[in-house]
Amino acid sequence: MIDKAKLPVHVSFIMDGNGRWAAQQGKDRFQGHMEGVESVRSCVKTAVETGVRYLSVFAFSEENWGRPEQEVGLLMDLMGKAMAAEMPSLNENGVRFRVIGNRERLSESLNKAIEECEAMTAGNTTLDLIVFMSYSGQWDILQASRRMALEILDRSNSLEEARAALMEASSDDFRACLATAGIPDPDLIVRTSGESRLSNYLLWQGAYSEWLFTPTLWPDFRREAFLQALEDYAKRDRRYGKLK
Ligand code: IPE
Ligand code: IPE
Ligand code: MG
Repeated sequence: MIDKAKLPVHVSFIMDGNGRWAAQQGKDRFQGHMEGVESVRSCVKTAVETGVRYLSVFAFSEENWGRPEQEVGLLMDLMGKAMAAEMPSLNENGVRFRVIGNRERLSESLNKAIEECEAMTAGNTTLDLIVFMSYSGQWDILQASRRMALEILDRSNSLEEARAALMEASSDDFRACLATAGIPDPDLIVRTSGESRLSNYLLWQGAYSEWLFTPTLWPDFRREAFLQALEDYAKRDRRYGKLK
């Protein structure tokens, strides 16, 4: 068992390698994505079992809009179908569901389904499941910058006052404008499939996260792999630039 004191509060996954998993199995890419949904289900169960409080997954990046239209369409469909299929059991298990990202780019029907799931599970407190969709770290930083500046302008009586308020704005003020406001920064970010890059994920929020890059492809990342990642995390020494 993992020592509760050494358990990450927030674990995040960059779910990569669905396409390569499918190729290895002689299947088409979509089957890899479907199998990836099974891994999400397994990780949600494991998070509840171990007491991880926040689980987030990078499901679709802003850059992924540049994939062929057919793949984008299939991924959007899969998101809608997986939500419909999983929501009753997520809700029964006390999971609060949220989607974070540039939602303006999602279809009206998907947005409506997301809003319904968010509303239905809003009071749940066992686990927060956050799906990053149409998300990128740079998008988030840009929208937060705009929002912070606009909020300051709106409450200022003059340009001088706005300028002074902007100069006094703190890192916490900025954090409150990020799309993840209110969610603790990830303690552990796991990227599957052997790629050692951030791919524009939580750039601000991941500043002091522990990173784990594993060769396991996302569809193969299930309970055992998650438990192993938690054990690896428990051995890390987080110093935040200080001396101990
Ligand atoms: C991750 O798997 C899922 C998404 C990025 C939507 P990929 O589709 O990137 O799989 P690979 O990297 O081609 O194996
Ligand atoms: C990162 O995977 C995005 C998600 C897992 C949603 P990609 O497969 O899109 O990343 P790159 O292209 O290898 O950097
Ligand atoms: Mg990939």
